[in-house]
Amino acid sequence: MEKLIIKGGQRLHGRVKISGAKNAVLPIIAATLLGNERPSTLDEVPSLDDVHTIAEVIRSLGVDATFDAGEHKFIVDSARIEKCEAPYDLVRKMRASFLIMGPLLARSRRAKISLPGGCAIGTRPIDLHLKGFEALGASIEIGHGFIDAFAPNGLKGARVYLDFPSVGATENIMMAASMAEGQTVLENPAQEPEIIDLANYLNVMGAKVRGAGTNVIKIEGVNMLHGADYTVIPDRIEAGTYMVAAAMTRGDVYIENAITEHLKPVIAKLKEAGVAIEEDVDGVRVSCDGPIKSVDIKTMPYPGFPTDMQAQFMAMLAISEGTGLVTETVFENRFMHVDELKRMGANIKIDGRTSVVEGVSRLTGCQVKATDLRAGAAMVLAGLVADGETQVGYIHHIDRGYDHLVEKLVSLGANIRRVDE
Ligand code: UD1
Repeated sequence: MEKLIIKGGQRLHGRVKISGAKNAVLPIIAATLLGNERPSTLDEVPSLDDVHTIAEVIRSLGVDATFDAGEHKFIVDSARIEKCEAPYDLVRKMRASFLIMGPLLARSRRAKISLPGGCAIGTRPIDLHLKGFEALGASIEIGHGFIDAFAPNGLKGARVYLDFPSVGATENIMMAASMAEGQTVLENPAQEPEIIDLANYLNVMGAKVRGAGTNVIKIEGVNMLHGADYTVIPDRIEAGTYMVAAAMTRGDVYIENAITEHLKPVIAKLKEAGVAIEEDVDGVRVSCDGPIKSVDIKTMPYPGFPTDMQAQFMAMLAISEGTGLVTETVFENRFMHVDELKRMGANIKIDGRTSVVEGVSRLTGCQVKATDLRAGAAMVLAGLVADGETQVGYIHHIDRGYDHLVEKLVSLGANIRRVDE
């Protein structure tokens, strides 16, 4: 098993370039299934395990997909879809595999996908996805570990209200509705930048999606969509992670490619903590040479503070001055990094959905594990400032979502390496 070995204490400095967004590219690759004329070429596709997994998922349907990770290019020819069933082994590996259900249902009129199953960060049901498909006229059967959705006469546009602005449900319904007959009005959808990116890609494929990024999305269904070329937006969570790394190590880092518009709550909280932020059109410079003040954060759907930055902020609060409250409202069980941070000397108490983080003057290196993707990032951040050596295990979680993390951190002066035990 591979692990990361970090020797703490290095100040990060220099420039780092942010890769394409994981959470934008996964639904976009799912959406390529809708194009039955000419291939799609996607650019700025990050080299991540999750991208390889979704590539396997669409290949398992008989679709031709090539990923040149070095060139960050992903080419899909989905003129022919041979199967409409996604197997357990792939869906189990990555929940986002479920995003192929909307496009498959629209294109093949049937989608049979293994139930995603439990997940480390809460129960994460898919009821909102299914409610949306049913509103569009699909029939759903659940049995033998599979969800079987079919719409033999095609999908029909409808009004769909989401009880919670789920990112995945918004994406799945948007993709299905793009090829439904008539208009779909999606109320209370997620408003994340990745939703806008997916809508933009669907529109270059010939779809008619309006209002993505607001609280109502209107989709006029069309008969056919075609493949298209598209460049994925930069990853705001990767950018946010390097911003926190710069702050925690009292560094000075220019984060190239970061779209600061997408990072408003992260920037606001870093400024409140006393971190210097200079924004320009190409990215953001983050520097810090004094103490970091504790702040309170509460995760919310976009444009609120992102749940995917919660663990990294908690690592920062662990070494800040004073007490900070971290409230998680998006997921039920997203505090697994707390025990790992405590192993490093952090002073954190969990009270229901809130963690009370009392800053300590130093963390100490030890053996910890990445309990999920962002928790893994938090461990790396803590390791960068801890006394002595930190060993982070279970790094397959980190490889799911950080493109060349070790190389990028080393280029900023960190002492970090990957070893195979
Ligand atoms: C996406 C992101 C993930 C991020 C999350 C919230 C991708 C590939 N992943 O995940 O990184 O942390 O958004 O910003 O883009 N829910 C239901 N019923 C449903 C669907 C969701 O109750 O049918 C609940 C979930 O259990 C969870 C909350 O809604 O508590 C948010 O989930 P959702 O927005 O759907 O997240 P994902 O799309 O899974």
